[in-house]
Amino acid sequence: MAFVPTIHATDGLPISFESEKFCGKQKKLIDIEERLAISQTHCNGETEANLGSIITEYLQILQRRNLRNLGYPTNQDFNYDTLNLLLHFHLNNAGDPFLGSSFSLNSTVFEVCVLDWFASLWEIKKNEYWGYVTTGGTESNLHGILVGREQLPNGILYTSQESHYSIFKISKMYRMQCVKVSTLVSGEIDCVNLKSLLLENKGKPAIINLNIGTTMTGAIDDLDLVIQTLKECGFTEDRFYIHCDGALFGMMLPFVKQAPKITFKKSIGSVTISGHKFLGCPIPCGVVITRLEYINALSKDIEIIASRDATITGSRSGHAPIFIWYALKKKGLIGLQNEVQQCIMNSHYLKNRLHDVGIGVMLNEFSNIVIFERPLDDDFTRRWNLACNGNIAHVVVMQHITIEILDSFVHEFSLKRSIWYKDGLFQPLCIAKDIGFENCACSIHHSIS
Ligand SMILES: Cc1ncc(COP(=O)(O)O)c(C=O)c1O
Repeated sequence: MAFVPTIHATDGLPISFESEKFCGKQKKLIDIEERLAISQTHCNGETEANLGSIITEYLQILQRRNLRNLGYPTNQDFNYDTLNLLLHFHLNNAGDPFLGSSFSLNSTVFEVCVLDWFASLWEIKKNEYWGYVTTGGTESNLHGILVGREQLPNGILYTSQESHYSIFKISKMYRMQCVKVSTLVSGEIDCVNLKSLLLENKGKPAIINLNIGTTMTGAIDDLDLVIQTLKECGFTEDRFYIHCDGALFGMMLPFVKQAPKITFKKSIGSVTISGHKFLGCPIPCGVVITRLEYINALSKDIEIIASRDATITGSRSGHAPIFIWYALKKKGLIGLQNEVQQCIMNSHYLKNRLHDVGIGVMLNEFSNIVIFERPLDDDFTRRWNLACNGNIAHVVVMQHITIEILDSFVHEFSLKRSIWYKDGLFQPLCIAKDIGFENCACSIHHSIS
């Protein structure tokens, strides 16, 4: 049987300044790396006890790291112990989830329940949508943009410069012409620039990748304004396709009053979210939903699996849909709403705390991504697992990040800064330009929202 961990992510571990060394690679990790190497010589297999002890050691490393996992949008606050026994089975959902397949150890009944839930969330009727559970945001984007390209084969892909790197990779993979659109201060797509680019390329249809939350600054592209811009430029609905990349925020916005609404009642072609981000699935996964009418052009009947092939990969995880199903069932709409509210409240708390100690911050509306200057010391960045881009860094305030962790982070950041900048003798780099304030000459930054 597979080794099943029973220790929980943050059980009883103190958050102390000294509890992990400030060095690049910790000794523990080097020790375990030596034990991990798999022998190339003839040998008997390792005993279960030895394997278990390696995993126990690795678990201890993970537990320590988990406490300071601040920079990436993965919710670490979960418990899937009920699903442990599923590791006794290989579950494979190859094929079209709505048709099932001849491989009987599948979980497509769970997958379809998950897809129905998202279809209802994004307001498309059961008999009008199609979708599947993917390996994550990138595969979902690969699918959504492929559907757009099949609908509009000579279309140009428009996407903002703040888009996730997968979008630019996809345009290369599909050999699609890709036009980068500039962004506003918040990081959302600049529709004035979009308009002039659309007018320059009026002869070709438009495939738009819309960011429902940019990776670095959590900016939300304005769907209504993008549709209005397309129409003003003379693009009728049969000449554009909109794919909504909602990796993190696609799962949050529906639970925030006043937030912009993603819905198939508007002229969109596909929407995606990542299951390992807000929902907290322990393995990377995602969901993509599109209009059923588009799928026929992509699909092919495959005799050996007695199903239809319309997905990017062949074999697909049968466990992932069950994790998503379990998370949705367990939290319910009220639970999801509470978690979203808590994350946004804690983001404001972090923003205020950083501001109080003299660190400039930016936090977009409806967002849990707090942006500030890149720490000078890479060890500090690694210690808190911050995500950096150029001169900026961010914390994504997910469910596992408590006020206590945030206080500890701010305290340590502030202490370290006074060392790096010699108690104010030197100033940190101005990040105004990095967050879109082109003409700002100040060295202390801005707060939005
Ligand atoms: C906006 C956006 N799209 C797509 C992705 C890619 O998701 P994945 O890493 O699951 O492939 C990310 C990941 O952070 C993202 O932020």
